[in-house]
Amino acid sequence: MSALVFDKVSKRFEGGRLVLDAVSLEVPRGARYAVVGRSGSGKSTLLHIAAGIEVATQGTVGLFGKALHELDDRGRTLLRRDAVGLVFQSFFLLPHLSVAENVGLPAMIAGTMSGRMRDRVRHLLTRVGLADRSADSVQKLSGGEMQRVAICRALLLSPKLILADEPTGNLDDVTGREVMRLLLEACGDEGATLVYVTHSQELAALADARFVLHSGVLEKAP
Ligand SMILES: Nc1ncnc2c1ncn2[C@@H]1O[C@H](COP(=O)(O)OP(=O)(O)OP(=O)(O)O)[C@@H](O)[C@H]1O
Ligand SMILES: [Mg+2]
Repeated sequence: MSALVFDKVSKRFEGGRLVLDAVSLEVPRGARYAVVGRSGSGKSTLLHIAAGIEVATQGTVGLFGKALHELDDRGRTLLRRDAVGLVFQSFFLLPHLSVAENVGLPAMIAGTMSGRMRDRVRHLLTRVGLADRSADSVQKLSGGEMQRVAICRALLLSPKLILADEPTGNLDDVTGREVMRLLLEACGDEGATLVYVTHSQELAALADARFVLHSGVLEKAP
């Protein structure tokens, strides 16, 4: 069973043009795939549909064997909470919480914070080299450090799929490269499948396979 399957997925926002045009894509479990494409080509929309945040206008999406169109809003929200971790360009950390509190947030929200979960927070922060910053306010961190915290938060509940929308878009080239490598390695360690959007050909080259979106049409890149 694949992690993610798009079968001829099209998306048109109300009153708008076709943003995704019969996109088909199969992401095997454990694979790390990159999507590139110009601004406005539909990359974020593709990730939002994969996450069940947006719904396809036509076609079907399967997430670990579950057909998203057969689920209601609540079902999609629960599947997203349990199976998907999201990483964004602008890290979306809570500025008044510490590093460890930001990483632990998904467990706090789910009401499952525990000693075991605190160990997991420590493990992930150690993995990204930020264990000694656990008690610091996230406001003291650099951009690259903030994104490492956001990656730990996305991985906390051991999602089987990580969707990352330009995770290095706000970082300089060197930091972006470091963060991308860390994200790829961490997903590898955790056995998580990764789909990431990037503007960088160099970072796309690190993926197991690359896809290009041109005005909503997805093609496999060589
Ligand atoms: N909620 C929405 N309602 C209406 N139109 C939308 C909505 N979200 C996206 N769009 C439109 O869909 C098209 C694709 O947007 P999308 O955000 O997926 O592009 P993108 O490839 O991620 O671009 P960027 O590289 O700038 O982030 C754009 O024309 C955008 O205006
Ligand atoms: Mg986008």
